[in-house]
Amino acid sequence: MKIAIGADHAGVRLKQDIIEVIQQMGHEVQDYGCDCNQSVDYPDYALPVAEAVVNKEADRGILICGTGIGMSIAANKVTGIRCALVTDLFSAQATREHNDTNVLALGERVTGPGVAQEIVKVWLSTEFSQGERHAGRLNKVAQIERKYHAAP
Ligand code: RB5
Repeated sequence: MKIAIGADHAGVRLKQDIIEVIQQMGHEVQDYGCDCNQSVDYPDYALPVAEAVVNKEADRGILICGTGIGMSIAANKVTGIRCALVTDLFSAQATREHNDTNVLALGERVTGPGVAQEIVKVWLSTEFSQGERHAGRLNKVAQIERKYHAAP
């Protein structure tokens, strides 16, 4: 798979650890930055990663900031993105099986590199549980999106 990745200044170290594990798994990395130490704004990195996913330039996206919260909020504003902030392995699996998430958010100040790498391994290797139960719920989520994201 092609994996788009982005981080702000508070996620830049963890980004390198995550790139390593993505490449070890045999996936291709599209790195949208940042690679800086100075303060930057997380929405500026969430948007290009989210757009790469909805435009099908990437299969999935991974976003990292201090907590993962800002990145997940910003990514979920993009129509078609289902982003989950994950801090544990159970949620990494469940959010693929139940929510078909296409973007994963991580917090460098919250989740250590070893756990974060394991989360990524599980999230990238878990398929969506096909079936009416989950698909129907995601369809209802998409209906909310259509209602509130309609062009003015
Ligand atoms: C940056 O200080 C921090 O606010 C940002 O990385 C993130 O945690 C926001 O949600």
